[in-house]
Amino acid sequence: MLYNGNKEMISKETIDKIFETAQIEEVVGDFVNLKKRGSNYAGLSPFTNEKTPSFYVSPAKGIYKCFSTGKGGNSVSFIMEHEHSTYPEALRYLAKKYNIEIDDDAPSVEQLIANNERESILLITGYAQKTFTEDLFNTDEGKSIGLSYFKERGFTEETIKKFQLGYCIDERFHFTNTAISKGYQQEYLVKSGMTIQSENGKAFDRFFGRVMFPIQSLSGRVIAFGGRTLKNDKKVAKYINSPETLIYHKSDVLYGIFYAKKTIISEDNCYLVEGYTDVISMHQTGIENVVASSGTSLTVEQIRLIKRYTHNITILYDGDSAGIKASFRGIDLILEEGCNVKVLLFPDGEDPDSYSRKHSATEVKDFIKSNSNDFIVFKTKILLADTANDPIKKAELIKDIIHSIALIPDAIIRSVYVKECSNLLDIQEQSLITELNKLWRQKLEKKANERKGENEELPAISELTPYLENENRENPAELNICEPQEKDLIRILINYGNLTKFVESEDEEGKKIEIQTSIAEFIIHELAIADTIHFDNKIFQQIFEEYTACLENGNFPEPSYFSNHPEKGLNSTAVDLLSSKYQLSEGWERHSIFVDSEEKKINRMVIGAIYSLKLQKIAQLALQLQVKLKKNPLEEELIDILEQHKLLDNVKKEFSAALGRVVLK
Ligand code: CTP
Ligand code: MN
Repeated sequence: MLYNGNKEMISKETIDKIFETAQIEEVVGDFVNLKKRGSNYAGLSPFTNEKTPSFYVSPAKGIYKCFSTGKGGNSVSFIMEHEHSTYPEALRYLAKKYNIEIDDDAPSVEQLIANNERESILLITGYAQKTFTEDLFNTDEGKSIGLSYFKERGFTEETIKKFQLGYCIDERFHFTNTAISKGYQQEYLVKSGMTIQSENGKAFDRFFGRVMFPIQSLSGRVIAFGGRTLKNDKKVAKYINSPETLIYHKSDVLYGIFYAKKTIISEDNCYLVEGYTDVISMHQTGIENVVASSGTSLTVEQIRLIKRYTHNITILYDGDSAGIKASFRGIDLILEEGCNVKVLLFPDGEDPDSYSRKHSATEVKDFIKSNSNDFIVFKTKILLADTANDPIKKAELIKDIIHSIALIPDAIIRSVYVKECSNLLDIQEQSLITELNKLWRQKLEKKANERKGENEELPAISELTPYLENENRENPAELNICEPQEKDLIRILINYGNLTKFVESEDEEGKKIEIQTSIAEFIIHELAIADTIHFDNKIFQQIFEEYTACLENGNFPEPSYFSNHPEKGLNSTAVDLLSSKYQLSEGWERHSIFVDSEEKKINRMVIGAIYSLKLQKIAQLALQLQVKLKKNPLEEELIDILEQHKLLDNVKKEFSAALGRVVLK
């Protein structure tokens, strides 16, 4: 993943070529054992644990269909679904499989050098891993010190090989000098973190005399190491880790993710443990959906990495005070990312490593199942233990828990937890809600302040030379930047569309006029009549169209029209949007909004949402233009583009001015 972080865009020609070349049965066949059935293929669905095949591939149509999960699509969507990758990642994957060159704009010299450096460093970390493993198994020192230690710990040879464990010979210059003698450059040895260069230029090993735990990237390449000393010297650090390098950003990496990702998906849960040994021991027992944040406290990036595979995380730490602290921090971060979190602290003296060495997979799983708590029960248990009926401490405890609940982005889940908290602590729900709302208000105010001036950050239209490209409605993922604004507007439409407003505007002669309208009609007028704005998100577009159709038949659709809609994607989206009815539109909360009446808020919200969406659509056009410009347009095309730029700029000015004149009452 780290090395694939090339964010250049892929040209339409290349995308077409990838679609033309990819054979669905070959693409799927890399992951599913397919058997020919007439003109189609069938196999066991990779998305569930089924025993009879319900997964079909049609080479003629270029599609797959999974009848147990309802999933289906083409080669690209299969890779996206199966590998949990983004659209560009899937395209790159297929391009690689079919040897199609991705014609990114010619990389800059800096990029070439950077790629080269990364590649050089990866070669070194790969070489280091092989050397360490070889020395572990094939040298006297490795065998007698390293290998015997791992065996004592209960690691089997299979486990040691799977995790590519190793041993770094206990001589200060051994690894570095051997590497140099094999042609690896000192510069890159230092940049890889394997070698330390002292001020006088002398180079020596970072890890000499340690057993080595390589850290694998998402795609399985070794990018860093942790090294454990076997000496009982208190002055020697027990673990040393690679420093940050071009290929290793600690905060983005989870130890074990390469080995765990498949099982995380199938179990729909991820165990989070402290370190290397916990991951390895649990694997050896047969529990593979385990990762560790080893060496750092959990980061948002790490949670997002897990989120690609599951929304359920179970924290397994040992129950000492450091473990508790780490788990509290982790809980809040995970909640904030919208994931579900359970916690289990192992009893004194045990950690996932020691426990899974003594028990079978089923026993460990049962133990986790019956002892892990949802975060409220967990926090309450821990905190209640030292409140000892002290009312002030209890009040603090409540605040602490409400604080965690307030982090959850989903309103429905928040209210479920408020109920639970109310039952558990025997407090009226309403007082919890009051406290919760206070926190939310603070949060929104803070966000609003942070967002001040956000509009200035939009790409300046005049600089970007917009290009009105409508032939290609399907934006590649990079260009899909309007979703938040689209969502906001649809949310307002289905929640408040039937409210009546008076629009104050001007007629052709500049005379003030007042028109009675509903919010829905106002939005439709602004988007579909005064403008022609399409929603990139198909579900939003459909909601918008169906709403318009209902209005044309003379009635406002009830919220249930959408929440009970026969289409699954649509009704779940609607439920999501309807449940956030009372969440104020964050983008438009400015300083003084909270003293305003609900009415005024809605008025401002509507205009604000329309304005934001239109601005964002222009920003999107500008981005499309950038793409176009990057493809080195011919001179006459360039003139065309510049013309269109002017046009777009005028449109922007016009609608800003027009919206500025419109007042809702
Ligand atoms: N760890 C670390 N840095 C440290 C201590 C621990 O990164 N200074 C991480 C390691 O990933 C280790 C995990 O925390 O696997 C568990 O720590 P600990 O139990 O102290 O390490 P062990 O190697 O299991 O030591 P012991 O045999 O004493 O249990
Ligand atoms: Mn340990």
